Amino acid sequence: MASSQPATSQGKGKIGIIGSGLIGRSWAMIFASAGYNVTMFDIKESQLTGAMADITNQLAELQKSGTLRGALTAEQQRALISVTSDMKEAVTGAFHVQECVPENEELKKKVFSEMEQYADDAAVLCSSVSYIEPSKLFAHLKRRSQFIAAHPTNPPYYCPLVEIIPSPWTEQSVVSRTRTLLEEVGQVPVTVKKEIYGFALNRMQIAIVNEAWRLVADGVMSPEDVDKVFTAGLGMRYAFCGPFEVIHLNAEGIASYLERYGSTIQRVSSTFGPPPAFTGPVYDAIVQDNDAHYPLDKLQEMRGWRDARLVALAKLKKDMEDNKAL
Ligand SMILES: NC(=O)c1ccc[n+]([C@@H]2O[C@H](COP(=O)([O-])OP(=O)(O)OC[C@H]3O[C@@H](n4cnc5c(N)ncnc54)[C@H](O)[C@@H]3O)[C@@H](O)[C@H]2O)c1
Ligand SMILES: *[C@@H]1O[C@H](CO)[C@@H](O)[C@H](O)[C@H]1NC(C)=O
Repeated sequence: MASSQPATSQGKGKIGIIGSGLIGRSWAMIFASAGYNVTMFDIKESQLTGAMADITNQLAELQKSGTLRGALTAEQQRALISVTSDMKEAVTGAFHVQECVPENEELKKKVFSEMEQYADDAAVLCSSVSYIEPSKLFAHLKRRSQFIAAHPTNPPYYCPLVEIIPSPWTEQSVVSRTRTLLEEVGQVPVTVKKEIYGFALNRMQIAIVNEAWRLVADGVMSPEDVDKVFTAGLGMRYAFCGPFEVIHLNAEGIASYLERYGSTIQRVSSTFGPPPAFTGPVYDAIVQDNDAHYPLDKLQEMRGWRDARLVALAKLKKDMEDNKAL
């Protein structure tokens, strides 16, 4: 996380955030943690008020638990973040603008057209889009070479992966500046080299959700036990090893694994059913069961529970990296 500029409470450059919901707030905290001035815009005044209260609260909690990111205090980071109900004020003078409005193609396209009117000549204009291909979102823009997508993982403050997706028009320097900024603020960028609907992370997540659904729908396993397959099984390894590394270590290397299990994998693959419809009695049963186990009025509490565990996991990963002998 070496930076060319020292982080001071005076700030070291301005970043604009468009949309102050779940993701906009997280980006604001991440950029402020590295000493950047952040100006957040939203069309809803109540969202901006809620965002500042939420951020102030989160920063104080993080400081209290010793898990605040960066070298500045919660107070100093809070002072770097301001809000506005005027998009021009958020975008003008920013070297990076991060769009975080809802996942709606027409809305995003409209927001980008407005962003490019106010943006500095050299600004990087970046979307947090989760699924839609950048070429669909950026085609109509005059300054489309400056636009790029950077899809974070929820919750971004605790899960550092960001998928970078250039469009066919994105300048190479915009790709490298985005990557450098994300690395500097402590995220982990990966590049989606070729546009595809849903990028990589959500495509893999969807493959898992579909198979989990089919196993429950076919009466093979209960939803609670499906969750345990991850929390006590696959997830334990996946926190440290990717899917290729896992199979490499499960035999004498990946070639030996595929020699032993390749035809089995193909046979199992041929039994995967079609995509589930998410309707009907199975839908009712799964939703009912899930809502009973994880009550809807406790979501905020459960997110806190999850984040505390993600912090502990991140600390473990960092400690193990710092001490490679382990
Ligand atoms: N929630 C996730 O898990 C997640 C993860 C990664 C990426 N994303 C992506 O991030 C983006 C934002 O998602 P979110 O979960 O933060 O949504 P959200 O609904 O929490 O927040 C969206 C915010 O945008 C504001 N907004 C709406 N129209 C606007 C406009 N024209 N100008 C400015 N602000 C406007 C809303 O008032 C709201 O505050 C989406 O593209 C989403 O797919 C979400
Ligand atoms: C950045 O934020 C700090 C702290 O609020 C402030 O003193 C400084 O003037 C800001 N810099 C810019 C360029 O907005």
